[in-house]
Amino acid sequence: MLRLGTVGTGWITQQLVEAAAMSGRFELAGVYSRSVEKAQAFARKNQAEQAVTDYQELLDLKGLDVVYLASPNSLHFNQALKAIRQNITVIVEKPAFSNPQEMAAIMAALADHPQAKLFEAARNVHTPNFHAVARALSGLPAVQGASLTYMKYSSRYDQVLDGGEPNVFTREFSGGALQDLGVYPVYLAVALFGVPAQVNYFPTLIQTGVDGKGVAVLRYGTYDVTVNFGKTSNSVAPSEIYGLKETVEMDSAGELTQVGLRQDGQKLTDLSAQPLVNPMLPEVQDFARVLEDPVAETNVADYHRWLLWSQQVNQVLYGLRVAGNLRFPADDHE
Ligand SMILES: NC(=O)c1ccc[n+]([C@@H]2O[C@H](COP(=O)([O-])OP(=O)(O)OC[C@H]3O[C@@H](n4cnc5c(N)ncnc54)[C@H](OP(=O)(O)O)[C@@H]3O)[C@@H](O)[C@H]2O)c1
Repeated sequence: MLRLGTVGTGWITQQLVEAAAMSGRFELAGVYSRSVEKAQAFARKNQAEQAVTDYQELLDLKGLDVVYLASPNSLHFNQALKAIRQNITVIVEKPAFSNPQEMAAIMAALADHPQAKLFEAARNVHTPNFHAVARALSGLPAVQGASLTYMKYSSRYDQVLDGGEPNVFTREFSGGALQDLGVYPVYLAVALFGVPAQVNYFPTLIQTGVDGKGVAVLRYGTYDVTVNFGKTSNSVAPSEIYGLKETVEMDSAGELTQVGLRQDGQKLTDLSAQPLVNPMLPEVQDFARVLEDPVAETNVADYHRWLLWSQQVNQVLYGLRVAGNLRFPADDHE
């Protein structure tokens, strides 16, 4: 069993811990929270061995193999670096790091500590429906672009409208719509089409100084991928990839719950797999597979592909922020 420690006590950590338990391949060695009450409550609910309020104490737990980081974005870097330096594998929530400088420092630490691995929890590109879309794309006679949408009103925007500054909507915590939801369609684009030759971003700013929504254009030379995302509005528009007469359709670039192929505007052929019992289960199973047998040929190839995607997505997100003139305090660190 892989011994897991967690950081953050929000709903996403709960979902990850449930997926890990469902996979039958992890045991919860410890949970960290800044608050002793929250750490103990989370530990009790999930039968964790230890509840700690000191991050170093979490990393020092006996035989800890993996730490899952679901803290605000700007904290991922230091927490990941500390873990890697102790040869502990990191599963980091998306977006992994604030900018390419942080990513480069993490890559250097990984090179110095080959026992530790880094996985970015980009759940959509680990799902069976992602693989169905990739297969449909490879069967198209030509690719002429895509339109990817992921836009969900966030209850935390109510707080902004009331004058508050929740972490996800602050520059301090490397927040905003691109980082929080835009990262899903950007991941999809990088995983399906590769790194764009050029990017542009047109953000709609909100009062906290970050983007509440926006439109990005990823230019691939012979075609463009337009990406529409936001946290201050709702969209029910599907996402599409354009062939010649064929259209690959997805209900949402973030959720990928329904995917299909339409020929010449005719009836949709459903390509969807069974609904997931937990949206994080496929990624957790993927990560466990690599950790259990890190030298198997497919596992080595998968790990390197995921790590490359992580670096490429980090680069594309940064390029989009530069184009949209969005800076974070994390960009000014050494
Ligand atoms: N994969 C997905 O679908 C998905 C969905 C949602 C979020 N996420 C990602 O998960 C991460 C966390 O998101 P979230 O919305 O849960 O963030 P959040 O609510 O702002 O914070 C997450 C946790 O970090 C701790 N925390 C909060 N404020 C902090 C501060 N000022 N300093 C130190 N620790 C602090 C809290 O844990 P304690 O109070 O217990 O210390 C909290 O539970 C982000 O990277 C986000 O992008 C991923």
